[in-house]
Order: sequence, then structure tokens, then C-alpha cells
Amino acid sequence: MRPPRDLLGERVLLTGFREEHAHSYVTWLADPYIQRMAGEQAESRQQVLDRHRAWSDSTTFLEAIILDRETRAPIGDVSLDFSHGDPRFGIMIGEPSCRRRGYAAEAFELMARLAREMGARLIVAEVYDWNEGSMRFHERMGFRRVRHDDALHEWVYELELGDRPGSSLATGMDRRCPA
Ligand SMILES: CC(C)(COP(=O)(O)OP(=O)(O)OC[C@H]1O[C@@H](n2cnc3c(N)ncnc32)[C@H](O)[C@@H]1OP(=O)(O)O)[C@@H](O)C(=O)NCCC(=O)NCCS
Repeated sequence: MRPPRDLLGERVLLTGFREEHAHSYVTWLADPYIQRMAGEQAESRQQVLDRHRAWSDSTTFLEAIILDRETRAPIGDVSLDFSHGDPRFGIMIGEPSCRRRGYAAEAFELMARLAREMGARLIVAEVYDWNEGSMRFHERMGFRRVRHDDALHEWVYELELGDRPGSSLATGMDRRCPA
């Protein structure tokens, strides 16, 4: 599933995957940090294209590429997986120089709004218990830890969409990344 439309934030643009994004995706998946934190594996360009074709055809898995709104450079991706009921949120800021600049927070806000529009009341996230940065990120977004999955070494987080306070994250242009 592709997003029903481009989603525009102050600094990010969320859009459907296109072939021109494949190169960035291959680079991100080759990064050992991404592999360890997000449970990804390196993929060839063809594998990336096949994977995105399958996602695009899926009726339950929605994925968007995060672009820097100004430069249109791809910096990561974000997803909502509806295949288990309440959508599971996934995010990756693939470009290391773009982390800790508020891009993920903005992308999350746009996806949470979309999930609500699509009828979701709750968003779930699963975070490896060694991924401190992602745990802090989800907690900052308002998620609460509900349980630990010992088999998968993951913390399961939930966020009630109805109860969310509005975003109070700073979104100044001074935090732009050089991607
Ligand atoms: C987790 C991740 C998505 C966060 O993206 P980001 O763009 O760096 O996050 P933001 O800059 O929007 O951070 C928003 C807030 O989350 C918290 N946060 C984000 N990353 C953090 C980190 N590494 N350590 C502590 N707090 C962090 C902070 O409170 C931050 O606000 P602040 O910078 O004003 O303090 C990013 O680090 C990433 O893609 N990591 C690799 C892949 C991954 O782990 N994906 C998630 C799998 S569950």
C-alpha cells in the first residue's frame, strides 16, 4: 500500500517509493547499525525493488519514503502494518547525518494523523531491547511500554491515538541535515 497522498510536514515530505529511491535504500540496509537496530539485512537493488513492489501491492502494509522537503533527498522510511489489527508503526532514518534533528518525530506525527484518518485508535511499536535510541524516541512520542517479548527481545509499545497531546517538538530549520 502506498500513502493515499503525499504528506507534507515542515521539513519532511512522505511519499510512495519510486525506483530512484532504491540506491539510498540499498545503502541504508548495508549499514551494520541499521541491521542491528532495525533487524534488517543487506539487500541488492533488485531485492529492494521486489520488496517495494510487494509492499505497494499489499493491502495491509503501508510504506512511505521520508524525503527532506527542501532537497527531496531520501533520508529514511516509515510504515504502518495493519496485518495484525492495530497498526504497527516502523521507522528508519537511514541517513546517519539526519538523526537527532527531529525528522523522525515529524514523520511520526504525519503517520499518526494518517492512521487516525484510516480508523486506527491505537498504534503499536516493537523495539529491540538493545535499541536505547528508539526506546527514547517512542517514549518521547507518547508511547508507553506494555510488555517485553522475551523470545524476540523486544519491548512492545502502544500509543492511544485519542489521548495524545499535540506535538510540542521543536521544528526549527536550524536542525536540517546535510543530506
Ligand atoms: C530511532 C530513530 C528513528 C530516531 O530518529 P531521529 O530522527 O533521530 O529522531 P528525532 O530527532 O525525531 O528525535 C525525537 C526525540 O526522540 C528522542 N530520541 C531520538 N533518538 C534518540 C537517541 N538516539 N537517544 C536518546 N533519545 C533519542 C529524543 O527525545 C528526541 O528529541 P531531542 O533530539 O529534542 O532530544 C533513528 O535513530 C533511527 O532510524 N535509528 C536506526 C533505525 C531504528 O532504530 N529504527 C527503529 C526500529 S524500532
